[in-house]
Amino acid sequence: MNALERSLKIIQFAKPRLLRLSRAYGQYVWDDTGRKYLDCHTGHGVAFLGHRNPKVVESIKRQMDLIMTATPAFQTDIADETLSKLSKILPSDMDYVFFLNSGSEAVELAMKIARKVTGRKCFVSFRNSFHGRTIGALSVTWNPKYREGYEPFPWETIFVPYNDANAITSAVNENVAAVLFEPVQGEGGLTPATQEFAKALVEACEKAGAFLIIDEVQAGFGRTGKVWAHEHLNIKPDIMVAGKSIGGGFPVSIVAVKASIGERLREGDHGSTHGGNPLALAAISGGIDVLVDDSVPSKSSLSGEKLSAELRKVVECCSHVARNVKGKGLMLGIELRFAPDEVIRKLQTKGLLCLKAGTSVLRLLPPYLITDEDIRFCADTINEVLSVWKPESGGSGS
Ligand SMILES: Cc1ncc(COP(=O)(O)O)c(C=O)c1O
Repeated sequence: MNALERSLKIIQFAKPRLLRLSRAYGQYVWDDTGRKYLDCHTGHGVAFLGHRNPKVVESIKRQMDLIMTATPAFQTDIADETLSKLSKILPSDMDYVFFLNSGSEAVELAMKIARKVTGRKCFVSFRNSFHGRTIGALSVTWNPKYREGYEPFPWETIFVPYNDANAITSAVNENVAAVLFEPVQGEGGLTPATQEFAKALVEACEKAGAFLIIDEVQAGFGRTGKVWAHEHLNIKPDIMVAGKSIGGGFPVSIVAVKASIGERLREGDHGSTHGGNPLALAAISGGIDVLVDDSVPSKSSLSGEKLSAELRKVVECCSHVARNVKGKGLMLGIELRFAPDEVIRKLQTKGLLCLKAGTSVLRLLPPYLITDEDIRFCADTINEVLSVWKPESGGSGS
């Protein structure tokens, strides 16, 4: 068979959406027939700053004309620029960062650092947590469906119920290197942490000498109404990871650590060929300009309140299929009485792209740019679909 006859396929790890996307701008995407969709999927939350945000595009283009490849062993102006901008938005005592390419890789490095610095082997994570698909990140990800076939993992992870202060207090002991914590659980079902739980979590970590790794990959960078979602909880990480929106659509992630941890890391402890690529740094630099100059967190908070209010009306009207509204800021969803897959497909045919969280949540991760008109379209479309939905046509019903 010659190369022309071969039909090479992408391994279908994701259920095909049967939609060919041609272009995207701001909060919208267009298919190959020119049809426009309101994008509340945003590539699993990546395009939170809007597709092709002009400041991000401009910054990447400028960098392309200068230098596209340089590892962190070399100094570059774009690295200095990005570090200077990051220093203004990272938690105050985080003095060291490392750049990587995906959320999973950042989680992986955070775990390596915790192991190396504490000398301990065990991790604590939460039921319904999601931290990624590489082996380290998967070992602290709860969903048995994702873990199946990959166990045993190289270390023990204790999964504790989320928002259970007593459980976390008894789980974190002197064997635990770190606790991995999402301030708002995303993939697991859009559950925000309570203040009481966050306080108990910090106390438990401090008492046991375990690190608190805060995973801001989905909730961070303004989406919940603060730059970092953990700011709602008045807590601070020892190690923080971020990804998705920070590059405005460009694949990049960061690990930030407190000075006391960063000073204990040595040459050779980690490395990455593409981590800290100049184009990725330019994307972060442009992304931070958008975040700061356009007051993204406060806009998110305001639009999140409006969208949440509209979704609550939908739930009231469609209580035969909908239970309640979940989430925070522009990380919102409706908990249905069944799996949302068919509803998501139907919404797509009506021009609205959404995704799923947990087993029964219809998840919306819109860009911060959504207008009042978009919010109305989103709520009206969901209402139109759910109001005539027969519970038995949507899944198991419970
Ligand atoms: C909270 C959280 N952590 C980590 C990850 C993994 O990120 P990536 O898919 O970029 O590896 C995700 C992805 O959805 C996430 O939501």
